[in-house]
Amino acid sequence: MYSNSFFSALSITNDAELKYFSKISNITTKKLKYYPKYNLYPDVTDRDCIIKTLDISELELKIKLGYFDKELLDILSKNAKTIVDFISPDYNTAPIALRHKHIFKTEYGNMYQGDCISLMDKLEKNSVDLIFADPPFNLDKKYESGMNDKIEEEEYIKWTETWVLKCIDLLKEGGSFFIWNLPKWNTHISSILNKHLNFKHWIAVDIKYRLPIKNRLYPSHYGLLYYTKGEKGYTFNEQRLPLEICRHCGGDIRDYGGYKDQLNPSGINLTDVWFDIPPVRHSKYKTRDSNELSMKLLERIISLSTNENDVVFDPFGGSGTTYVVSEILKRKWIGVEIGDVENIKNRFDSLEFQKEYINNVQNNKNKLFTEEMRKLRTKNGQWLPETLVKKRSKNKANK
Ligand SMILES: C[S@@+](CC[C@H](N)C(=O)[O-])C[C@H]1O[C@@H](n2cnc3c(N)ncnc32)[C@H](O)[C@@H]1O
Repeated sequence: MYSNSFFSALSITNDAELKYFSKISNITTKKLKYYPKYNLYPDVTDRDCIIKTLDISELELKIKLGYFDKELLDILSKNAKTIVDFISPDYNTAPIALRHKHIFKTEYGNMYQGDCISLMDKLEKNSVDLIFADPPFNLDKKYESGMNDKIEEEEYIKWTETWVLKCIDLLKEGGSFFIWNLPKWNTHISSILNKHLNFKHWIAVDIKYRLPIKNRLYPSHYGLLYYTKGEKGYTFNEQRLPLEICRHCGGDIRDYGGYKDQLNPSGINLTDVWFDIPPVRHSKYKTRDSNELSMKLLERIISLSTNENDVVFDPFGGSGTTYVVSEILKRKWIGVEIGDVENIKNRFDSLEFQKEYINNVQNNKNKLFTEEMRKLRTKNGQWLPETLVKKRSKNKANK
């Protein structure tokens, strides 16, 4: 609990020191625990008390707490040489990465087991067209790998920065980076990405993932960050969706008035709010207890941002959804998972029904009405583009 920059700045290493600091600074112990828990900079009253108690300047406090606002960054930037000359003899950042090993190869991809950081250190820079990452959310979830999914917020953000920066180095000019996470973490991740890449979208994917909590809004979307690298044009293959209709009678949900025949026959524009991504519940498709993403989500991301033979990398394998969809869509892929990779291997042994699923997803996009919708609408006498044409020519003939 006391191993973070907030407590170390205040020289607090145990409960007794916490109580003592609380007494001399007039800040409650509850408040002193609150700031590091949520990785927050102290409010103005507490900040003044800390500065007075430690007898330091606010600038020193900001550095100690790692609060790098614009003012501090400007000062550091102006004095960069002096600072580097001063700290360089002791500066040793070489991280000790866990190892990784090659496990299997398919027609399009290579699967590794181990730490993604160690693998990324070995991969060629500027060589990947698409990175999709679905990291652990630090929610104390049980992972088959047994990894610790409940670390201090500050530590989680630091770790996130490490893998995100390594991913950025791997991306080609014109490459795309998608990150799937909770909105809370995405605010931090965006602040890292904004310094290196071009923001394209914060896509809200409408999926309810926990029960409503008192005094809070009902959390109903995952954030899917979408960034691209460099000035060079990036791949953007338009994806269109069928019209939204009533599931029961096939009727229109919106009133298109006289504009029906101006609707694009290839479907409706994809927006930055996705309502049609299902959670993976069906046992036929679900390959492990939790965290498996829908193949439909990956089909959309990969089709939108890459072409055949492009290279896709996902640093957090899980059940291997990204790798399976890449293989089916004929994209080269590189995969890594720190835990057991048996599930991933098994998925590649039964690709057929997953191919069927992807075929089905592809048959139902980029058109205004799917075959199923056409049947339902015809049965219930709803308009279709061809019936509008017939009606128009009949009207003309009658005039
Ligand atoms: C949220 S899951 C990914 C699920 C995946 N998108 C799917 O659809 O199956 C995150 C995965 O990352 C793995 N992981 C965590 N830290 C890792 C690391 N440093 N290197 C590689 N994998 C890691 C976890 O074991 C877990 O399986």
